[in-house]
Amino acid sequence: MSAPAANSIAVIGAGSVGSAVAFSLLLRQVVPDVVLIDIDEDMCKAQVQDLSDATFLSNVRIRQGTLTDAQHAAIIIITAGAKQRPGDTRLDLIDRNLKILKSILSSLQPIRKDAILLIVANPVDILTLFAQKFSGLPKSQVLGSGTLLDSIRLKRILASRLNVADTSIHAFVIGEHGDSQCVAWSTATVHGTPLLKVLPLTGAERDEIATTTRMKAETIIRVKGFTSYGVAAVSARICEAIIFDHRQVLPLSHWREEFGCCLSLPAVLGRDGIISSFPIHLNDTEQKFLEASAESLKKVIGGYAEEL
Ligand SMILES: NC(=O)c1ccc[n+]([C@@H]2O[C@H](COP(=O)([O-])OP(=O)(O)OC[C@H]3O[C@@H](n4cnc5c(N)ncnc54)[C@H](O)[C@@H]3O)[C@@H](O)[C@H]2O)c1
Ligand SMILES: *[C@@H]1O[C@H](CO)[C@@H](O)[C@H](O)[C@H]1NC(C)=O
Repeated sequence: MSAPAANSIAVIGAGSVGSAVAFSLLLRQVVPDVVLIDIDEDMCKAQVQDLSDATFLSNVRIRQGTLTDAQHAAIIIITAGAKQRPGDTRLDLIDRNLKILKSILSSLQPIRKDAILLIVANPVDILTLFAQKFSGLPKSQVLGSGTLLDSIRLKRILASRLNVADTSIHAFVIGEHGDSQCVAWSTATVHGTPLLKVLPLTGAERDEIATTTRMKAETIIRVKGFTSYGVAAVSARICEAIIFDHRQVLPLSHWREEFGCCLSLPAVLGRDGIISSFPIHLNDTEQKFLEASAESLKKVIGGYAEEL
């Protein structure tokens, strides 16, 4: 088999999420070569066979690979890990998924020096922090999909209320991709006009929208057992911004010195990964919510201090 292209993307974990991520990368033609990897080789092979029926649309090569292939990839996406069962929080997955992450990252050594590691498996903020440690890459090259998905869910709700396109709304969910997340209402705008001026929501209405956003995964998982399309689309967007050095500002999980953990706040994304954090002006209430979100993440991290 030919050597992997310099700008290949490796997707580790070929389950519901990994296969959907590969499909979205293929449709968007983000790179010419996508490698899918799973410990369950038969299942991975079947996913690749199924995906290969779609490559006629874009001429992207999809193939089954090994962790050695991933060592040469420009972007390595980690979706391997247990998923939430109905009623599980994302934090319930940590024991299993931390072990999986550690074993994968030790097998990836030596990792390409300019590789970007995108963590998708949950709990994404915690795993992103540990991936920074285990991978040995600069922290700026290891990021998590974080609350980009939650922000997109929020924008969808607001856009339908206002009957405008999602892309005309700038609104962010920040903090943990999980139960302690918060909406930065005071910074939300519609084409530059404060959101709450064009859509005067009461406190109760804001809480309801925030809850619907936060609970959306759980609502879907209760019926179909997993979520995949949203996170797949989000992963494709992140990879595009990296490969094409877009410098797009996106809410992503990344290392924040002032909080001492990884959580989602707006960041500038490009070929080198997180180019910089982008400032956000929260009001006092929101700042306190963000700090509480960081505290709850750090409490969990504290329980795994021997790993750090
Ligand atoms: N960040 C997000 O927004 C988001 C959204 C949805 C799901 N997720 C998370 O993504 C993860 C995957 O979910 P899923 O529905 O695809 O689960 P899944 O069970 O369908 O797939 C997980 C795959 O990982 C593989 N795997 C396990 N250990 C491995 C190893 N050491 N090396 C290679 N592969 C390994 C399994 O064989 C399985 O195929 C979960 O942690 C889930 O919570 C994150
Ligand atoms: C800050 O914004 C929130 C909405 O996110 C609002 O509920 C709160 O009253 C505001 N607080 C201050 C101090 O202005």
